[in-house]
Amino acid sequence: MRFDKRHLLGIEHLKPHEITEILDLADQYVDLNRRQVKHSDALAGLTQINMFFENSTRTQASFEIAGKRLGADVMNMAMQASSIKKGETLIDTALTLNAMHPDLLVVRHPHSGAVDLLAQKVNCAVLNAGDGTHEHPTQALLDALTIRRAKGRLHRLSIAICGDIAHSRVARSNIMLLGKMENRIRLIGPPTLMPAGIADFGVEVFDDMREGLKDVDVVMMLRLQKERMDGGFIPSSREYYHRFGLDADKLSHAKADAIIMHPGPMNRGVEIDGTLADDINRSVIQEQVEMGVAVRMAAMDLLARNLRGGKKEGIYV
Ligand code: NCD
Repeated sequence: MRFDKRHLLGIEHLKPHEITEILDLADQYVDLNRRQVKHSDALAGLTQINMFFENSTRTQASFEIAGKRLGADVMNMAMQASSIKKGETLIDTALTLNAMHPDLLVVRHPHSGAVDLLAQKVNCAVLNAGDGTHEHPTQALLDALTIRRAKGRLHRLSIAICGDIAHSRVARSNIMLLGKMENRIRLIGPPTLMPAGIADFGVEVFDDMREGLKDVDVVMMLRLQKERMDGGFIPSSREYYHRFGLDADKLSHAKADAIIMHPGPMNRGVEIDGTLADDINRSVIQEQVEMGVAVRMAAMDLLARNLRGGKKEGIYV
């Protein structure tokens, strides 16, 4: 069995052995990234285009560095300045780029499903860098790698995902991945930020942090996605922090060696106490960023192998 996908659109389509294959290769790229000379030719001669229709700091930088370290020709499209502003549709933009023969297209879009649609129209491999509230597969994979390295395994762990679950593609992808790897998942947040019917996904739901965090191995905090809220989901940031913000008192209910995660960007003093976020004995937030580059290198490497028909030589070399 090997990774034979054409695109990386979501965790939904991945089998446990494919997740493990990506993480195993990513472990090797972590070692490469820690060397002084960080270069491989896995993507040499290939063209990678990053199309971000939504703001991004770490994800876009991470995909760009990943492509460059693997020797790809990487282009970042400035979507704010693109013809989309002149009324061109997403599909027309995709077809135009497709005619330039890219090999890897990395796409972030505010609408759920937009990246899947685009993948149907192009000949290259497409990676979803976040579509609306739907999926963010490389984030879930980098979170999984971070957990696996910190805890020594990725199964039979008790993991709390806390905060704005309803608007979070990070939560959706993580619930699927961590569920496939047979972990116990607890979701903690106000009922207004909990998607209806979520308990059917085999998760436990709490609206009290102290209760929900009891004896967990991993505490994953989420950003309040205010840009996706169109009404009064929370009374005030202060009230939210009081009930759902992670501080030392709430954390004391988790296991003594529980790790703290956050995908970034963080609202310090809203979702999480700034001192805890910076506590190198508990927080793995910087490791998550490091793992992000390695996971994206692994994912693009595996997709590129499939472009070449599984052979090193081919029309692309
Ligand atoms: C996340 C995203 O864009 O979905 N950020 C990220 O990719 N690191 C989470 C967020 O924006 O809160």
